[in-house]
Amino acid sequence: MKVKINNTTKDYRTVWFEPKTGTIKLIHQNKLPHNFEIAELKNHTETANAIKTMIVRGAPAIGVTAGFGIAQACMQAPETEFKKYLIDAAELLKSTRPTAVDLFYVIDRILNKIENSDSIDNKARAAEIAVSESQKIADENAAACKKIGEFGNELIRNNDKILTHCNAGALGCVDWGTALSPMRIAKQEGKEIFVFADETRPRFQGSKLTAWELLNEGIEHGIIADNAAGYFMQGGEVDLCIVGTDRTSACGDVANKIGTYEKAVLAYENDIPFYVAAPLSTIDFNIQTGGEIPIEERSEDEVLVVNGERIAPEGSHAMNPAFDVTPAKYVTGIITEVGVFKPGEIKNLKSVIN
Ligand code: MRU
Repeated sequence: MKVKINNTTKDYRTVWFEPKTGTIKLIHQNKLPHNFEIAELKNHTETANAIKTMIVRGAPAIGVTAGFGIAQACMQAPETEFKKYLIDAAELLKSTRPTAVDLFYVIDRILNKIENSDSIDNKARAAEIAVSESQKIADENAAACKKIGEFGNELIRNNDKILTHCNAGALGCVDWGTALSPMRIAKQEGKEIFVFADETRPRFQGSKLTAWELLNEGIEHGIIADNAAGYFMQGGEVDLCIVGTDRTSACGDVANKIGTYEKAVLAYENDIPFYVAAPLSTIDFNIQTGGEIPIEERSEDEVLVVNGERIAPEGSHAMNPAFDVTPAKYVTGIITEVGVFKPGEIKNLKSVIN
């Protein structure tokens, strides 16, 4: 992705791994939009903490970072008790955030690769496999997101106004993004587009991160309060919606950032197409419906405290579910790296995945 710092533009991935030192480097998302900093994670414990505290966030970015965390664990484990160290590291990384399925998909994929090559008792060989497989997964995600952009771009007409929720951009992935990728490509192809970025309470991924990405890309946009989406939809100002997903069930129900469900219902009510951009790694073929997706509950402080200042009376409590489930009936299509599908067709894609 393009990052403009002062007057220069540089290309960055959200997260990458330096195998020589075993260091993960990533864009520190809690510092954006005002400060652009690269965080360095030296071991899998720091990596787990970065995922939990959302220094890195977004389903594919979480998955790829955890994969690099497994590589760190393999490289840094003691020779004795290697297997136990690795399994504990995997458990720790998996315990960070429950909803995004990429986290589990990536960790299990690397562990299976190690097991299947009979390397679970061979630290050096296991480390080699974990490094190369995690790098491969990162590259696959970047390529998948670019394809999503190409397929999604075909759904965007010149002068379209597009609504998105949360940040499903390059920052939530390795590069390109899921929901934002079609917008990047539409812009690069010379289409005039306008993006409504929901601010996305309580953590403001829309106003802090999506707006930052759109600015870097030169895409015209406006930030709206979450509860303003219906107003703009009813007024005929929104041509289509594109959002991301943390986990999609086999029947096409979609768990995404809290507030996605109400946007989908509003879009349905106002006859506005509602697309979900989903790399295949975010589809959980093991579960049938959205009701089975674990929903993360985060600290009430994210709701009660803004910029370090409590905004609610002392003594009031808050509920803070981080995701909700949009039933498949509200989803017009799911944009993947292998094409755009009706939610009911998703289950047929199982054979395409690694
Ligand atoms: O809590 P977050 O910021 O990790 O939630 C992110 C989202 O809900 C995104 O829409 C989703 O992960 C897709 S990111 C490409």
